[in-house]
Amino acid sequence: MKPLKITLKTPIEEIQGLGSAVRIYIKRDDLNGLLISGNKARKLEYLVADAKSKECDTLITCGGAQSNHCRITAAFAQRFGFECHLFLRVHGKPPKISTANLLIDKLFGAKVNYITPTQYKHRDTIMEAYAKKLQKKGKKPYLIPEGGSNEIGILGYRDCMKEMKTFIKREKIEAVYCAVGSGGTYAGLLLGKKLYNLKVDLNGVLVCDTIEFFTEKILRICRKSIDTFNMKITVSEGDINFIDGYIGAGYAIPYPAELKTIIRVAKLGIILEPVYTGKSFYGMLNHVKKKKYKKVIFIHTGGIFSIFAFAKELTPVITTIKG
Ligand SMILES: Cc1ncc(COP(=O)(O)O)c(C=O)c1O
Repeated sequence: MKPLKITLKTPIEEIQGLGSAVRIYIKRDDLNGLLISGNKARKLEYLVADAKSKECDTLITCGGAQSNHCRITAAFAQRFGFECHLFLRVHGKPPKISTANLLIDKLFGAKVNYITPTQYKHRDTIMEAYAKKLQKKGKKPYLIPEGGSNEIGILGYRDCMKEMKTFIKREKIEAVYCAVGSGGTYAGLLLGKKLYNLKVDLNGVLVCDTIEFFTEKILRICRKSIDTFNMKITVSEGDINFIDGYIGAGYAIPYPAELKTIIRVAKLGIILEPVYTGKSFYGMLNHVKKKKYKKVIFIHTGGIFSIFAFAKELTPVITTIKG
């Protein structure tokens, strides 16, 4: 399957100055575009290509109110002439003022439907019923699951592993780390690891849900992708390494050690955010010490705009950190 290629190939840079005994490289997927940027862009290049090939005219997807995935879907829709309809989960009343990713969704003309956390549990059924209504009005909707994490979207991260494979072999990288939010990034990297026969540990830091939940989900999506695209590989539970213990009080709820990590890393020129990359980078820093690796890669999956939704949490911590 051929993706729409609009993102840039991303560099791998070493981050120095963290005082870590391990050499940490960052795959800068945050730099693959700006509004169309981060891990979701790689997935949407495949999903939107599929939508175009099926002659659809409307993209429907879902996420949290500050979803990066929804913002990037809105940007793709604008760029490729689709309507975009979003189902955004909000706790309590919908926000009166749109900020950060939500503001961008609206600037790109996405139609926003707010749903409660309970409704969000039934998001696929809700989106399917909505798509049927649009069909009756003559539209051709294309449904994208949460995070773009299905057998098609994950091909974007198979490609990311392909981009990294020479570097991994040449530099003898021992582990690749990423955040696990809807599981697609990890699933695609796992396909790539298997297809290119790479001897690296693939370590996913959970930012929500449980090890059991993601093990089942990732194996299911990988196997569907393997069948659909006729790949000559298999995946099993033994291929999966998850790191738990860095979610804190819950999804998108930051905690002090994480915020301090974000600020330390920002002083070295790289912006992480509190929902995914902050928690996973912090988790990685602790995990590499236990594993005694010498060289690892962290996938920077983007999400820069979401920091603007966390000014209240970040500002007081910035003032406490010297230097
Ligand atoms: C910036 C960012 N990083 C990481 C993730 C997690 O990736 P995945 O959903 O593929 O597990 C997401 C979305 O969920 C994200 O927006």
